[in-house]
Amino acid sequence: MKIRVTVNGEPVEADVWEGESLLFALRERMGLPGSKNACEQGECGSCSVLLDGTLVCACLVLAAQADGHEVVTVEGLGRGERLHPVQEAFVEAGAVQCGFCTPGLVVAVADLLERSPSPSEDEMREALSGNLCRCTGYAKIFDAVRLAAGRRA
Ligand code: FES
Ligand code: FES
Repeated sequence: MKIRVTVNGEPVEADVWEGESLLFALRERMGLPGSKNACEQGECGSCSVLLDGTLVCACLVLAAQADGHEVVTVEGLGRGERLHPVQEAFVEAGAVQCGFCTPGLVVAVADLLERSPSPSEDEMREALSGNLCRCTGYAKIFDAVRLAAGRRA
């Protein structure tokens, strides 16, 4: 079936199988490998994207369900060569090790700061509880969130 999706502000058409995930369609059909596939079961958050402005795991959404909707991936957060402030904060705070979790975390943090520009520690932990990182121990990730939030204030 053919789907039409607005992806990172651009109209995109793709031929997809009825059962395939939005994550697969983004990565394999639309040339957007930034969203990572790890668990493909909604457990790790590495595939986090915004669907009509709501944070979702792209592995749990059918590509067909995105037909006619708007998707923002990690590739769509920055402006041209300019990183999104959350991406800059991750770099500056040293919140990246292997980097596999980073795209999903960046999307989740950007979403958090849109909803809550100065999140409490509990809000931060709650908002990122669906994003697993095997490397960092999370301390520097939370430093990056504080840094990005401080710059918005
Ligand atoms: S790959 Fe989607 S939540 Fe893990
Ligand atoms: S930096 Fe490796 S999983 Fe998070």
